[in-house]
Amino acid sequence: MTDTALTVHQTARPHGFPTARHFAFVESALPEPPSGGALVENLYWSVDPYHREMMDDVPGGFALDAPLEGRALGRVVASRTPRMAEGEVVFHRRGWRTHAVVTPEEVRRLPHHDGVPLSAYLSVLGGTGLTAYVGLTRIARLQEGEDLFVSAAAGGVGTATARFARLLGAGRLVGSTGSAAKAGHLTRVVGYDAAFDYHDGPAAHLLAEAAPDGIDVFMDNVGGEQLAAAVEALRPHGRIVRIGTVSQYNTPGVTVPRFDHADIVEKSLRMEGFLVRDHTDLQDELYDFAVPHLRSGRLTPDETVVDGFEHIVDAFLDMLHGRTTGKIIVRSR
Ligand SMILES: NC(=O)c1ccc[n+]([C@@H]2O[C@H](COP(=O)([O-])OP(=O)(O)OC[C@H]3O[C@@H](n4cnc5c(N)ncnc54)[C@H](OP(=O)(O)O)[C@@H]3O)[C@@H](O)[C@H]2O)c1
Repeated sequence: MTDTALTVHQTARPHGFPTARHFAFVESALPEPPSGGALVENLYWSVDPYHREMMDDVPGGFALDAPLEGRALGRVVASRTPRMAEGEVVFHRRGWRTHAVVTPEEVRRLPHHDGVPLSAYLSVLGGTGLTAYVGLTRIARLQEGEDLFVSAAAGGVGTATARFARLLGAGRLVGSTGSAAKAGHLTRVVGYDAAFDYHDGPAAHLLAEAAPDGIDVFMDNVGGEQLAAAVEALRPHGRIVRIGTVSQYNTPGVTVPRFDHADIVEKSLRMEGFLVRDHTDLQDELYDFAVPHLRSGRLTPDETVVDGFEHIVDAFLDMLHGRTTGKIIVRSR
């Protein structure tokens, strides 16, 4: 085992898109686990759009020149608590570093599901999958045969949403993404029926072409113009599931497009947002739903796996710029 640890710090607040200059890799001696704690060597890291929100000077945001936080899976390499055994793999939130000191209260033991790759616990079985599952089953309350539109459809949440929606008996699936190549990937690989590049014209026009008969549910990862377009395309009793607003994270001061508020009343629409952290009680239900499908091959995790902790900042930036598909995960070499 190495005797040094690497940790990523944020060194400055970005305006617009962050760059590698807003981060630093800081080397330190390997921490000793305190009594009652354990030292974990991280194996997989999740980098997420909410980290971009935390880079701003907001309550609960990242402090400058301090270790960043994020979801990770790590192996216990030294333990001073009977509650964590050396060799066991745990989920915790002290990511963005090669090694972390954790207490038993801060970790979740990973269940062992034969044939399921570890990375899946950060993708379809992790917060990303749980977000899609909660959005579909609890917020949209999806019914069989209903037609969906999903924005940021090629990302982690967007791909999990399509895969789960199909397994739940959804009707037509339409997705939007940032390039023609990614739109092709959505229909060829992920299982969308139609997909468009949102750069190709006004969202209302593109959505009307892709879903000429309208939609029942909008799973919205983006906000902005696509949200306005979806309000127009929704059928009576349609639902808008507000998951995220990635169109605003890197463009402070962007004008928020308007939609006809009367549509909400006249079509009896429901718009509801949620935070996945308020639904962690559904984690076991997600395992019960998804694991058999993973094992049977009916469910494939969509992941971009980047090898090497030294690439974690680049992986984060690539995800923000839309250069990846599926859930982006960094893996230790
Ligand atoms: N409510 C919750 O608890 C919760 C939990 C997890 C995630 N989320 C939200 O869900 C959304 C998706 O998260 P994720 O982890 O799955 O990330 P992701 O979709 O894998 O990555 C973000 C993607 O957003 C797209 N994007 C970036 N800028 C955009 C813009 N201006 N307009 C439209 N699309 C843009 C890019 O893909 P393109 O190539 O398609 O542009 C990018 O790859 C985010 O808004 C996130 O904050 C919410």
